[in-house]
Amino acid sequence: MDSIAIIGGARLEGEIPISGAKNSAIKLMAASLLTDEPLRLTNMPRLADTHFLGKLLLRLGVSVIESDGPDGPQTVLHTPEIIGSIAPYNLVRQMRASFNVLGPLIARTGQAKVSLPGGCAIGARPVDLHLKALEALGARIELHEGYVYAQAPRGLKGAQIDFPFVSVGATEHSMLAAVLADGVTVLTKAAREPEIVDLAQCLNAMGAKVEGAGTDTITITGVMRLHGADWAVVPDRIEAGAFACAAAMAGGDVRLTAVRPEHIRALLDHMRAAGCQIDETADSVRVRRGTERLRATDITTEPYPGLATDLQSPFMALMTMAQGESVIRETIFENRFMHVPELARLGADITVSGGEARVNGVERLDGAEVMATDLRASVSLVIAALAARGETKVHRVYHLDRGFERLEQKLGACGADVRRIKHGGEEL
Ligand code: EPZ
Repeated sequence: MDSIAIIGGARLEGEIPISGAKNSAIKLMAASLLTDEPLRLTNMPRLADTHFLGKLLLRLGVSVIESDGPDGPQTVLHTPEIIGSIAPYNLVRQMRASFNVLGPLIARTGQAKVSLPGGCAIGARPVDLHLKALEALGARIELHEGYVYAQAPRGLKGAQIDFPFVSVGATEHSMLAAVLADGVTVLTKAAREPEIVDLAQCLNAMGAKVEGAGTDTITITGVMRLHGADWAVVPDRIEAGAFACAAAMAGGDVRLTAVRPEHIRALLDHMRAAGCQIDETADSVRVRRGTERLRATDITTEPYPGLATDLQSPFMALMTMAQGESVIRETIFENRFMHVPELARLGADITVSGGEARVNGVERLDGAEVMATDLRASVSLVIAALAARGETKVHRVYHLDRGFERLEQKLGACGADVRRIKHGGEEL
């Protein structure tokens, strides 16, 4: 397993181009199952998660061709025919969002057998809302030996689906299933994340009729068939937010490009309150910080447009050296403070009680060996390490590779001392 070694203390200067959003790309890839024509996705991030999903889609009959096209990295997905309808445990376990192939498989073939994803490092993460939504659309669902067996031999039917609380995955999954259903589906308390809007717009480019994405009520009028399309994946707001925190932590002057600042509005507001200088254009964010300490700032994670749970650990890393005490409340996942003991190894002073962490800013952090536990936790360790004295080694960086493309190169180009140590000790 690779590690990343960081020598802290370098100020960052330069530009960081933001990639396409992982959490959108993987749902758009699943949408390719809904048509027998090619779906060309541009601005595609090259990540372990897109690679895993590509492997699963291949088994289901999708040809997945990655290349550098005229608009940069692209993936063309083409499913002339579904040749399998089983998503096995060993693939779904590696990447839980592959569970989202269930809806498109039932919509297109009337049946599917997909492994339940199980829990993960940040919480139990049940899929009950996904299954209830598919049942409301007329699928017969049975659970046996860790698998969901779903059948809808006469096709799915439009339905009213009232979610009890906001779920990004269940909203996306319902959209993916309902676009080919017979009749109208209405989703209430729908998630409003930019990835939902991206999926809805891509489905509409494929001939679907999805209205209201970006609000809490989405209406989907089913159509008989979808066709191919070209779609550019929305910029990754979580990658952008994490690099904004990295720039502020290290200090310096960094411009994030190919980004939609409005998608990280909540984070940027908190960063300004903490004392960072932030300038925005329509597609870039410049983050500056001098040598002064930041001010402690409280945050609470919320569904969009609130502060994203995926940016909680990056912001916490930033607060470890701020002046005063910040209170960080996590309301989305029940176990999302796994980075706290690792940040403490670098010298951070953090106390956790239930869903609340109190971060007492310290004047210095010192490099140490730390362990990544999940994707966003890993990046918080990298961010803290950029300001720590001496060397930090972050182990188990495969978590990082799931969602950050060329992280070492992007930070290195701005002057950070970051290098990857390949499994076996070879440094790159
Ligand atoms: C998506 O997960 C993202 N993953 C997560 O990013 C992100 O943290 C999360 O949305 C919240 O923004 C992908 O898009 C692949 P949810 P998702 O359904 O869809 C509970 C990352 O690092 N719930 O909105 O799984 C659930 O347990 C990942 O990129 C149920 O109880 O999140 C959680 O407490 C981590 N039953 C809450 O709802 C259900 O059926 C919100 O989860 C579904 C969810």
